Amino acid sequence: MDNIIIFDTTLRDGEQSPGASMNAKQKVQIALQLEKLGVDIIEAGFAAASDGDFEAISQIASQTSTSKICSLSRAVENDIKKAGQSIARAKHKRIHTFIATSPIHMKYKLKMSSDEVVKRAVDAVKYARTFVDDVEFSLEDAGRSDMNFMKDIADAVIDAGASTINLPDTVGYRLPFEIYNMVEDMAKHINNRAIISLHNHNDLGLAVANSLSGIQAGARQVECTINGLGERAGNAALEEIVMALSVRHDFYNNFKTNINTKYISPTSRLVAQITGIQPQPNKAIVGKNAFSHESGIHQDGVLKHIETYEIMKPADVGVEQNNTIVLGKLSGKAAFKNKVLAMGFDTLSDSEIKQAFDRFKMLCDKRKVVHDDDIRFIISDEKLNEDKLYELKSVQISNCTSGLATATISIIHKDKIYSDACIGDGAIDAVFKAIDRVTKQKGSLVDYQVQAISEGKDALAKVICKVKFDDAKFNVIGHGLNIDTVLASARAYLGALNSYISMKNSASRNKHQV
Ligand code: KIV
Ligand code: ZN
Repeated sequence: MDNIIIFDTTLRDGEQSPGASMNAKQKVQIALQLEKLGVDIIEAGFAAASDGDFEAISQIASQTSTSKICSLSRAVENDIKKAGQSIARAKHKRIHTFIATSPIHMKYKLKMSSDEVVKRAVDAVKYARTFVDDVEFSLEDAGRSDMNFMKDIADAVIDAGASTINLPDTVGYRLPFEIYNMVEDMAKHINNRAIISLHNHNDLGLAVANSLSGIQAGARQVECTINGLGERAGNAALEEIVMALSVRHDFYNNFKTNINTKYISPTSRLVAQITGIQPQPNKAIVGKNAFSHESGIHQDGVLKHIETYEIMKPADVGVEQNNTIVLGKLSGKAAFKNKVLAMGFDTLSDSEIKQAFDRFKMLCDKRKVVHDDDIRFIISDEKLNEDKLYELKSVQISNCTSGLATATISIIHKDKIYSDACIGDGAIDAVFKAIDRVTKQKGSLVDYQVQAISEGKDALAKVICKVKFDDAKFNVIGHGLNIDTVLASARAYLGALNSYISMKNSASRNKHQV
């Protein structure tokens, strides 16, 4: 049976989704989850892109152990050097270098002849091999490149030391039968001298179909992302490729992956929470409705025999369907810990459990019943708000006549309490303005989302704020969870500010290191 290597690029191509930027801590959190999921290779970023990327890759390299850690680099010396340095501490490492090979890219973007492109590719692979034994070479825009030229450049980079040849359909243009033909032809030519990889974009909604078609033709690595995140319309979704291979094992009986599918749903949720990009409700495998049956006929069928309308069990991908009532007011810490472990949070420290338990108790004071989802969101909220440079102490809202409101805010910063008040167009606007005033920062709200966790008027509100502070070139995301939407919003806005400051600090630390 052949192993299909799962190369996850959520932290690199996925981060190229508009608005999906993540800080180093968040990237480490996702990388550790990807490792748990069983991903073979994690593309942790593009080391030369920014100091923040370099820092995140280095942290991931030193904190992971089973997955291979990879950095992307253009086929230029400085990029490759940074890639090599960023992954130096990884147990298993790879440099992924690329140059475009299509006529349109070579002529207009690179302004290079095909001979120059081959030379640059060979030099890049040779230089990358001075840092690592495992080098992947990508023929960017392979989907629109000439087959004979692709064979020539593949021969040259394999001789130079590349062990994986990636054929990206960079603009998502190809159809499944065309990818099949391209891979079959290349596989015959390469004749096992290197592994063939695919990296399909989803501009025509065909990325997953194209990846599966390529596997049939001989590709043994697929590059993909959680929730299909990525540049423009995204990349092939990891969860869809893996579940297609698994559910249709009758057909794909020659292939296996190392993915532990029961971690698919928790990983999808974590990525959605951190990036603030929720999968569409009808998204295959991880959408909110992927396992719900709405029509009476379907519900009747499912009740009589589940397989009438379900081709996989929700539990196979880690979806727990009964959002059960968990513990109550009288439950102790030991019972809470058992519950949390049973829910799969097996890497929490005692102090993290204690923090979550305190918040759970506060919720029990306000609500009769607490559901699994409430617990799950409380735990991830604690993780998402680990940066506590500014911490919310209190919020008071008054005077909501004719749309105007006054917010009085107290914030703890370096053990001192700072307070101020502000008028705004409604409570949320007033709160954000008051936070700006207290912290002496100027934030512009780019996006704001509120979601109710579980059901009922007293449901917890989950708020995600996307904010641009000062004149930064990037947006940051903050998360807040509270039964009171205004408090959740204040927490989310402060979370975004903490993330901004930590990104700024790590960038300036790096300037002195690299
Ligand atoms: O889409 C693409 O071609 C890429 C390469 C850098 C692999 O992301
Ligand atoms: Zn890409």
